[in-house]
This record gives sequence, structure tokens and C-alpha cells, in this order.
Amino acid sequence: MVRFLVLALLSLAGVTQTSASPTQASEPPNPTEEQPPLGTGSLSFPWSHLRLPGYIVPLHYHLLLHPNLTMLSYSGTVRIELQVQNNTNWVVLHSKGLRITTATMLDQNLAHLSDKVLPVLHNPTHEQTAIFSPRVLSGGQKYFLFLEFGAELGEGFYGFYRSTYRTSSGETRNLASTHFEPTSARMAFPCFDEPSFKANYSVSIRRSRAHIALSNMPVEQTVVLDDGLMEDRFAVSVRMSSYLVAFIVCDFRSVSATTASGVKVSVYAAPEKWQHTHYALKAAVKLLEFYEKYFNIKYPLPKQVVETKVIIEVATSPPPPDLVAIPDFQAGAMENWGLITFRETSLLYDPATSSGSDRVWVTMVIAHELAHQWFGNLVTMQWWNDIWLNEGFARYMEYISVNATYPKLRVEDYLVDTCFAAIGRDSLNSSRPISSAAESPTQIEEMFDTVSYNKGACVLHMLRHYLTDQVFQSGIVRYLRRYSYSNAHNQDLWDSLANVRRSFKLYIFYYKLEHCYSSRQAAKNANLYAGEHLDLTSMMNTWTLQTGVPLVTVTRQGSHLLLKQERFLRTAHPSDPAWPSLFLWHIPLTYRTDTSTSIHRHLMTTLTDSVDVGEEVGWVKVNVDMAGYYLVHYDGSGWDDLIQLLKDNHTALTFMDRTHLIHNAFQLTTAGRLSLDKALDLIGYLRSESHTVPLLEGLGYLEAFYRIVERRDIPDVTQNLRTYILWYFRDVIDRQTWSDKGSVSERRLRSELLSLACHLGDLPCLKQAQRSFTHWLDSNSTLPADVAETVYSVGAQEDTGWASLLQTYTHSLSETHKHKILSALASSRDTNKLTRCVQSSILEGEVIRTQDLDSLIAMVARNPRGHHLAWSYVQKYWSTLVDKFQLGSFSIRNIIIGTTAQFSSTEELTEVRLLIFPWQYHLLSEASQLRVTEVAMDNIQKNILWLQRNLGTLRSWLDQQID
Ligand code: BES
Ligand code: ZN
Repeated sequence: MVRFLVLALLSLAGVTQTSASPTQASEPPNPTEEQPPLGTGSLSFPWSHLRLPGYIVPLHYHLLLHPNLTMLSYSGTVRIELQVQNNTNWVVLHSKGLRITTATMLDQNLAHLSDKVLPVLHNPTHEQTAIFSPRVLSGGQKYFLFLEFGAELGEGFYGFYRSTYRTSSGETRNLASTHFEPTSARMAFPCFDEPSFKANYSVSIRRSRAHIALSNMPVEQTVVLDDGLMEDRFAVSVRMSSYLVAFIVCDFRSVSATTASGVKVSVYAAPEKWQHTHYALKAAVKLLEFYEKYFNIKYPLPKQVVETKVIIEVATSPPPPDLVAIPDFQAGAMENWGLITFRETSLLYDPATSSGSDRVWVTMVIAHELAHQWFGNLVTMQWWNDIWLNEGFARYMEYISVNATYPKLRVEDYLVDTCFAAIGRDSLNSSRPISSAAESPTQIEEMFDTVSYNKGACVLHMLRHYLTDQVFQSGIVRYLRRYSYSNAHNQDLWDSLANVRRSFKLYIFYYKLEHCYSSRQAAKNANLYAGEHLDLTSMMNTWTLQTGVPLVTVTRQGSHLLLKQERFLRTAHPSDPAWPSLFLWHIPLTYRTDTSTSIHRHLMTTLTDSVDVGEEVGWVKVNVDMAGYYLVHYDGSGWDDLIQLLKDNHTALTFMDRTHLIHNAFQLTTAGRLSLDKALDLIGYLRSESHTVPLLEGLGYLEAFYRIVERRDIPDVTQNLRTYILWYFRDVIDRQTWSDKGSVSERRLRSELLSLACHLGDLPCLKQAQRSFTHWLDSNSTLPADVAETVYSVGAQEDTGWASLLQTYTHSLSETHKHKILSALASSRDTNKLTRCVQSSILEGEVIRTQDLDSLIAMVARNPRGHHLAWSYVQKYWSTLVDKFQLGSFSIRNIIIGTTAQFSSTEELTEVRLLIFPWQYHLLSEASQLRVTEVAMDNIQKNILWLQRNLGTLRSWLDQQID
């Protein structure tokens, strides 16, 4: 009944479960026995859907590639073993931008079906190619499709593309690498480019002696060809999706190590960056060992064993992982099975120039991509609508694995930020359900967003807390085993978890008999919710099929807490006529009170509810340690009680709870649900706060307000806020040293505090930064990495400083170091310099690599002097930008959000709207197809509302403080 109600409400709210393959037909176009005309003139493309037909399935690809790194082109052949399910004359598969020169069809004995080359038709709009076989391909039979093809190595970041790097002697060298996810394997070779068409791959690559070739599997055999070229033949892969195939031809060097279970791990980089691979190698080995234990599924076979193995048609061992730093790479990293590719800043670690947060980043990225070797590679979502099953899991596993392997990095401190980012997006109208329909390549590309990654991870975090670590772990192990080498839906995950839970209940039952426990005690022992009816699917559907984040309002009434849930929206108010009311979640509520140390739990499945907390309770904090994905509003005197508690004895709450309260209060002020002075009073305790996380959370809001009023040029508030921040946080700023000493957490605090202090023009900060900069220039020494960016930014304000930084940038071999310098170059107050940065990277990409253009534009846009400049560049070079990156890519989205996030007036909103929507202008017309433009507009709307709702209060609150 409850389940029916939820589903009914979900469908009323416009939420429907997206089917995995609505357009995947199994019926072929009518087969014909007649001989067709030889040309393609009278044949029309036989397939009209975006998704491929399901009646031909690829089983095994034999792929041979021969890239020419001088001519920047390649040729190739592919022989695909096909299983035909229904009689047909057509094979329809994907290809994009490839010249297919020959197509032939062979039977199972490799005999040609026709002595003529077959007609090949293209449908570029759907990126599909159809091959016509005059002889009917019979259902139930296997065939081989053989294609010869060629193409240029790509100029962008997709398909089989060219990358370059410069040696210290100034020589530029080429390499060729791949990036396929989600829909670019078709740019490298003709294939069935959908995640559910899993097949085995036998890859061979021709190369010169000066190069090495890498692919998913280890090299099995290398043959010297007549023309002196080498041909590496790689072992046959396990069954996998096309987006996970990868190959690289380069002259990189590597370091290797072996895990306790005998898996050989290697890290590759450009020869001169080789010494920066050691940290990644150690981390990869450690993390891989962790995952093997956690998933209880071995990552078997060291490379040597594979090399001596006889060739068998279907290999059963996943490829041992190679991790490669690619100099030109659009994303952060990519989990290709056994050949994981990274941006250099995501893999290389230079103890001299990498900061504490650089180390955390590298570790997290490796943890993420290694998690994918199970989540995503071994078990893959059926279709892109559920990409969160890959990305949400990989993001969450980053926290679980790094927490276990590198506890000193304290990555749990960052989990709150992951969830706050998810809430930021989910509390706008433009958000979407975790599982959402996506058909076209652009829509699919856009699925790789905060909702899939961060909301996915936070919902899993909530579920893990609800089910207990043990049940969660057993459930996902069950899921991974059950769906190994195949594909899964959300439902499969819920079933696997629910089954474990059922077995656990049985276990509790026997435990109870054996130990004479009451069932409640036994359940408590296993930390479960005994007796509570659990319908995991209904519960999780409310989180994955429904948009938004819930707000739970708590009212104390005697010994009861009255609870009410609704959707939390920052840009709408319950008094608005369009206020959404049909939202309902199954919320695993938790709360703590001052009367006991235990955590109380309650599953809230209705719009209103109540729980008994007892008369004598002084305070209640709901959503303990923010393990749940929901916000909490305290009605009546609720907030005042908590403000008082923080003032009197803030350590009565955990640092997570304190952070959560700060976040909640400021979110509510943005939505117009709480007055800003309450939130500001709440952080009035921060002087006694010694934990980095709540301190940075509170400070972060003040900084965000400062940036809004600074850019809007509201001098009195800007000045007062600046004075207030520097006065209030004086002690903690003064306590910071200009060094790399201390724990990761202390280092993070130092880095952020000093950066803010100098940005606010704090004199002691500026002086020290200036001194360090002059010393750095004079002595050519290395700055402490944690403060380097701040020091460079101060130095970049002078002409000579800026020029020296540009010089260092041009010659530095460390990308991490270059990133810090770039940020400083983009902080200049001189608009000519900013123009130079943006212009040179857009037009040449020589000094500043194109891969860094999106972050550069975002950095310039953050600078009040650069904001308009960045926005006009985006308008001017829009089509160049879309050519270089793809519509819907991370980079294009970063550019749109980065350049519009600071807008806060109705005029600016109109300007953006006019530029994006094609019926008025045509400038960014493709952008109107993107979800991200709605997000950008919502962001501006939110800023406008923030100013309307809060500027007056902020002004008078500051006046009071400063008097
Ligand atoms: N599978 C993605 C790479 C990807 C991203 C492919 C977008 C297609 C579109 C990879 O696992 C990933 O998530 N990479 C992240 C870094 C990671 C640490 C979050 C990225 O590229 O930002
Ligand atoms: Zn990922």
C-alpha cells in the first residue's frame, strides 16, 4: 500500500522509471533474398532509432591499428564476430568520422558470403553505419564482419587522438591515446557502442621501435614485420563494454610494483616526469589490495603469468592495471579496464611542489578509478540513464577506501562537501532525478554531473548508515558477483542488498535463540532496525527516481517532535503558487539529544509524523553527523536553543554536526526560510572553533557574500564585511605559518585562510606574501606548496612579477605547479594581461594547454576585473570552444557555469537568456539543448533572490558588529 502510494505520488510529480532500452527493437528490417544493386544509390539507411537494433550482438572484436605519429593519421581493420538473432540483410553499428574503405561478410568458417565488397551507408546524425549483405544473415547463426578503415588522429580529446609534450631541451613529441566514454569508441573504430553490448577484444597495434604500445590487456606476443615495424598482439580481453577499450602509442617510461596477491601495477608518464610517479604507484598498490579484500573478488593474474599463457578464446582474468598520465586530457581520469588514463595533475605527485590537497586529490582519483574496475567495468549499468551506478559508487568508494588506507588524510572531512555540492544543485528547479532518461550523445555526456556523482554517493552513504556497514558491504559484493561481466539496473542493486538483509534477519533470529536475547537486543547488536518493515525498493526509488532534497521541519511539542517533510528549493517559497507539494521521501531520520549519547532512529515515510523524545530533553539535533541526505529546519525556539548550545558548549556536538548546522542555517537563509542574522549569530561561536571543517564552512559563506557584494560594487557592505572577517578571524589567521608543516587538515586550513586574508587585502598577509615572492624570484628556491598559490597571486599584481610567473609557467615541467601559477596569472587586476591569457590559450593552446582552458576561463571570471571579459570571450569563441570540447562535456559546462555564476542582476539574467535561446539570438544556440544552461539561469535567479532577501539584513548586522 505504502509502495503504491509512493509510486502514485512519484508519477504525479512527473517521475517515471526510465526504461533501459525503450528504442532497442529486436525486429530487423525485412530481409530480402534478392540481389541488390551494386552501388548504395537505391538503398536507404535501414534504421531510424538512436539506439542500435538488438537483433545482432557482437561477441568478439579482432582489432588491428596502425597509427602514424608523424602523419598524425591511422589505419585499421576490425573483424567482429556477430551473433545474429533474427534473419536480416543489414548490420547496423556505430562509426563517426571514419573512412570505411572495405566491408566484407564471412561465415563461421571464414568463407566470404559474397565476392563483392559490400555497400556501406552512413547516418551521421545518429553516428551509425549500416552494411548491406546481399545474402541473408540467418537468425541463430554467427558471422564475421570485416571492415577496413582509416582516420586522422583526433585534434580534441575524444576517440583516438593526438597529444604532445615538450622535453626540457625544447623538443615536441607526439603520442596517440584514446578516450571513449561515453560515446566516442565509434570515433576510433566501427563498433556497437552501447554499454550493454559486452564483447571480448583482441587488440593488435603496429608501432615503430621508438615507441611502446599499451592496451587493456598485457602484450602476448610482439612480431617484427617485414618493413621493420613492430606489431604488439595483446591478450584477449574479458567481456567488456566498448567505452572501456583503450590503446596508447607513446615513448613513456614506467615504474612497477606487485600487490600482496601478485597483481603487477605499473605507472607510466613522459620520460622526464617519471620521478613523479612513485606516490601514485604506492597508492595504487595499497588501494588495490584494499579493494580485493573489500569486494572479496580478486584482481587476478600478474602480467608474467599472462605472458606465458596459451591463447584461449575467452579469457577469464581482468587485465592488471596500468595507470598512465596523458599530457592532453579533458576529464580528470578514465577507468579503461586495465589501462587507466589520467590528467597529469591527477596522477603525478611531486613532493616539492604538490600541496596537501594535491596529495588528497591524487589519492582520491586513483581510488575512484580503481573502484571502477569493479563498479562499472565488471558490472556495468544497462544504459546511461543509470550512470550513477558507476559514478556514484566510485565516488563513494573513494571515501571508504582512502579512509581505510590513508586515515591521516582524513578524507571523511571532505564527504560533507560532496553532499553540500549535491544539495546545491538539487535545491534548484533545474535538478533532475539520479536516474534520468538520456538518449543523444550530448544528453548522455551531461549525465556525468553532480547528481550522478555526488548525490549518488550521498544517497549510498545514507543507505550504508541505515543498513549497517556489514549489510551494505555484503550486499554490494553479492551484486558484483551476481552481475559480473554483465549489466545491471538499480533494481538489481536493491534486490542484492535486500537479500542480504533477509539473511541477516535470519541470522539474528538464530542468534536470539542461541543467546537467549530478545529480538530487539539482537538487532541492536547487529545495529539493525529490528521489526521495522523494510521495502528497500520503495525507499530507494524515492531517492533515485525523484528530483530534489527534502527539508524536514522539526517542531517541539511537549515530549514530541512534530515532523514535516517537503522539497527544499532555494529559489521558491511555500507561499509561491507554483510551490511543489507532491514530493515524498522515505527518510531514515536520526537524532541525538542531550540526555543520552545514543543515536535515535526513525523511518519517516509520510508527509507529517511525530516521535517521542521525552520531556526532559534540553536540545535535539536531527540528522546525526549529516549521514542523511536531507536538510533540517528547527521551528519555534529550535534555532535559538542550538545557537545558545554552540555558544555555551559547542563540543557537546560533533564537528560534523556543527558543520551541518552551519550549512543548514545558511541554506535556509538563501531560501528565505530563516533570517540571515540567525545564521550569522549561529557562527558567532566560531572563534572558539578549532576544527577545520566547521571553521571553513562558516568562513566559506562569509567569503561567498563578500564576492557577491564586491562584484556588485556595494562599497559599504564590502568594506564592513572585509573589516569584520579580518577582525573576527584575526587570531586564527595570525596563528598560521607560511610552511607545509602539520596534518593534512591543518595544511588545508592554512592554505584557505591565508588565501582569503590576502584576497581581502590583509596587510600582514600581503607583506609576508610579497617577501616570500621576492625571495622566490631572487633565490630560485621552491615555495611551501600550501601557500605557493597565494604568494604567486600577490606577486602577479606587479608587472615584473606577472612576467616572471609567465616565464616560469612556460618552462615548468610540473602541471601541478603550473596550475598554481595559472591561478595567479588569472588573478591580475590588469585586464590586458587577463586578455592575453585567455586569448592565447583559445587561439593557440601553445603556452596554456587547451585542456586547461575551461578552468582558466572560470578563474578569470572569478576575478571581478575579469568577469565581463571572460563572458565576452565565451560569446565570441563559442563555436571554437564547442569544436574543441564537446557539447555537454565537463569543460563546456564548467565554462557556462564559471562565467555566469557571479551574475546577480535581472539585466544579467536577461542577457544570458537572450544569448542562449535560439529564437532570440543564435550565438549560443546549441547551449539551449543543455541542462546546464537551466542550472546557470537558476544560479543567477538564486543570486538575485539572495540579494533581495538578505542584503539589508547583512548591512544592518555588520553595522551593529562594527559599532
Ligand atoms: N568515468 C569517468 C570519466 C568520464 C567523465 C567519462 C565524464 C565521460 C564523461 C571517470 O571515472 C571520472 O569520474 N573521472 C573524474 C575524476 C574522478 C576522480 C571524479 C573526472 O574526470 O573528473
Ligand atoms: Zn568515475
